[in-house]
Amino acid sequence: MKCLSVVGARPQFIKSAVVSREIRRIKDITETLIHTGQHYDVNMSRVFFDDMEIPRPDYNLNVGSGTHGIQTGLMLIRLEECVLKEKPDIILVYGDTNSTLAGALVGAKLHIPVAHVEAGLRSFDMRMPEEINRVLTDRISSILFCPSEVAVTNLKKEGIIKGIYNVGDVMYDAMLFYQELAMKKSNILKKFHLEDREYILATVHRDFNTDNRDNLKNIIDAFIECDETIVFPAHPRTVKMLKGFGLYDRILSARNVKLIEPVGYLDFIRLEMGAKKIITDSGGVQKEAYFHHIPCITLRDRTEWVELVEKGWNVLVGTDKERILIAIRDFSVNQQYENNIYGDGKAGKKIVEVIRGQEWRA
Ligand code: UD1
Ligand code: UDP
Repeated sequence: MKCLSVVGARPQFIKSAVVSREIRRIKDITETLIHTGQHYDVNMSRVFFDDMEIPRPDYNLNVGSGTHGIQTGLMLIRLEECVLKEKPDIILVYGDTNSTLAGALVGAKLHIPVAHVEAGLRSFDMRMPEEINRVLTDRISSILFCPSEVAVTNLKKEGIIKGIYNVGDVMYDAMLFYQELAMKKSNILKKFHLEDREYILATVHRDFNTDNRDNLKNIIDAFIECDETIVFPAHPRTVKMLKGFGLYDRILSARNVKLIEPVGYLDFIRLEMGAKKIITDSGGVQKEAYFHHIPCITLRDRTEWVELVEKGWNVLVGTDKERILIAIRDFSVNQQYENNIYGDGKAGKKIVEVIRGQEWRA
């Protein structure tokens, strides 16, 4: 059986690493890995292949950055060519980026079954490009790998009832697999003179936070004005907008904020493990905070990961400076960590089992 996986953005390298490893363990299934080139800086792409020992992509479509139309359009054109050449039995797509939607569209139009890993998530905000990508991808996928019961319910409410498998979250598998290695190999705390539990880790990259000057200014002003050390590995989009809005020098000169380049996965999970709290607008980082039992302050009004808010591990603060400052000072988690709500750490194995079963049924 031949499987073709489409990745392109940072979180997809991490998610696919888990499934690729399982595929490589099994003889009767092979994988062709396609990198769309959506992310291309060394520390947004190559570092993950090195850190996580992911095989080099068989193709890099080099689409790079652009408007949604240009980026997705180029992906469709170049991906279709590869798929026609490779003739896979199944196409695997991950998450909710433009690379996800392009992979799903190409597969569905060529009548190749599409399997969506991280299906069923919804923020119920169609202004988010990711929500559009999620809804459309789920609608045209044949196999829907959900990370949670909430995701299964979301799909059912949309009338999608066939091909759903609640396998748990591949990011949990990744964390379990790499956390020991991160403890051993990462020297990131030493490099930035940090001590465990003496800093807050922050990431910001959502368009509604980076591309709106007021929102971005509120966020960084809260970082600058709080009484904590903030470690802030900034996404290139965020750095570009900080510079464009004339806010870059302001944050660089802040005594308590360490603005650093994006780091590799092992360094990042080491930073998460040592953090006192995590502040983010990332989807993946919200979950990882929970996996490491760290309180998470989310710079959004909604989240797809509603269970985390309901269970008290995550608080939504939007971009209001005072709300962010209050959460930095006061937000804490008051309950014990129960059994993981995102599966048993064997999502990758289950995904490969289902894919192989799918072929037997065909
Ligand atoms: C994308 C995904 C988002 C995901 C995020 C993960 C979409 C619509 N968005 O957002 O869902 O959470 O990836 O990180 O697919 N840039 C660089 N170097 C790079 C990559 C990007 O400088 O290697 C800069 C460019 O200026 C680019 C901007 O970042 O225009 C945005 O990149 P893009 O891939 O379009 O979206 P992300 O914000 O990364
Ligand atoms: N991450 C990383 N280095 C960083 C920031 C994040 O390795 O400097 C990892 C993080 O551990 C998580 C993933 O990237 O697994 C999240 O990606 P991102 O926040 O870019 O996207 P999202 O999850 O919001 O789609």
